Amino acid sequence: MFDKNTYIRRRKSLQTKVKSGIFLFLGNNEASMNYPANTYRYRQDSNFVYFFGLQLDNLAAIIDIDERKEIIFGNDYTIDDIIWMGNQPSLQSLAESCGISEVQPYNQLSEYLLKAKQAGRQVHFLPPYRDDNKIFLHQTLDIPFEELKNAASVEFIKAVVALREIKDDEEIAEMEKACNVGVQMHLAAVRYCKAGMIERELAGLVEGIALSGGNGVSFPVILSQNGETLHNHNHEQILENGRLLLVDAGAELKSVYSSDYTRTFPVSGKFTQKQKEIYEIVLQANTEAIAMIKPGLTYQKVHYHATTVITKGLTKLGLMKGNPEEAVSVGAHALFMPHGLGHMIGLDVHDMEDLGENYVGYDEQTQRSTIFGHGSLRCGKELKKGFVLTVEPGIYFIPQLIDKWEKENKFTDYINYNKVREYIGFGGIRIEDDVLVTDTGYRVLGQPLPKTVEEIEKIME
Ligand code: GLY
Ligand code: MN
Ligand code: MN
Repeated sequence: MFDKNTYIRRRKSLQTKVKSGIFLFLGNNEASMNYPANTYRYRQDSNFVYFFGLQLDNLAAIIDIDERKEIIFGNDYTIDDIIWMGNQPSLQSLAESCGISEVQPYNQLSEYLLKAKQAGRQVHFLPPYRDDNKIFLHQTLDIPFEELKNAASVEFIKAVVALREIKDDEEIAEMEKACNVGVQMHLAAVRYCKAGMIERELAGLVEGIALSGGNGVSFPVILSQNGETLHNHNHEQILENGRLLLVDAGAELKSVYSSDYTRTFPVSGKFTQKQKEIYEIVLQANTEAIAMIKPGLTYQKVHYHATTVITKGLTKLGLMKGNPEEAVSVGAHALFMPHGLGHMIGLDVHDMEDLGENYVGYDEQTQRSTIFGHGSLRCGKELKKGFVLTVEPGIYFIPQLIDKWEKENKFTDYINYNKVREYIGFGGIRIEDDVLVTDTGYRVLGQPLPKTVEEIEKIME
């Protein structure tokens, strides 16, 4: 947890952005796996962490703008809890650690909100994503479940995004650490990869390093020879020489700042010519996209550049044809890269996605594309100093998508299906880094992680 002044400052800034009402923050509770007492790893809500720093279950907080009050709601642990959990800090001392002096029992929260509602005051809440918090909001504010998401306060959402999207030095230092744990995870995967292993043996090693570095992985590890499946969580295949292995994994620290890297490498330690040709295109898209990053440019432009690099590369190899810019403008590239170039990253690996992707990644000036592929870009808006984004271009050969588009005669002016068919079974390649937008350009976070063909082959020798 940062010094309490950080949280005091953040809450003060928040209050300058909305004129009246009450900000309500519902913390996350423990969630059960297979019986009530056997819980998943506890994860606090990121907005709660950002404004209060407290990572315990059964907490809520309000900032009452009209009455200039800040209150933490929770319950002190009883002797029964302490027998099982050990000694615990008092609610008062927890509140003081983030600069708040007033605490109240959790069961007083509904009454506080009800009173405010009866007085015609607005209770601003963020879109809930946990069922217990949905139930609380439904019962307390009498909002039907299906309307909760739309009843969330847009003013509150926009105010939170405006603060959280700009990472300050204290946060960037944490993100560097998260990246360095991520680098260690990927170095281990490259170094220990060997034909004959089961993918999960490598995935377990990667996950163990994340756990040693803090909270564990920032999202379930993607590690597969079928890298063409974008979020492939199946790790049951035996590693085979001749195939590529895609590893997409990141770390979450105790502070819950996270990292997100992807590397793709040959199981044998040596790329084939065919693999190298595709790899070099993805690498060029990754490095050119990173080099473009600077304040004032939209990330949508960077995404279009990366997809154009990919289209040009595939055209050179004969998999695509025609004018590459035109092919990208209509979305023909999306047969090979159906996702966007990247997303914001911070306290969440897809930062603030709970608040709604369009509020985080788009604004009045930059609208989300409706074209398949381009529309998957999570963040397209103008870059500002302090943003941290992933840059993750890829090329994938998805047999079902190839079949479907070919049957539909889709983009036959731009795609050589006969040539593409030669790549069925190739898998997929993605290369992902985490990049900070600086005053004048960019800085790639974390220690260098090998990504050229030569670097990867050397480390696997
Ligand atoms: N963690 C999946 C991604 O790279 O966005
Ligand atoms: Mn990733
Ligand atoms: Mn990512």
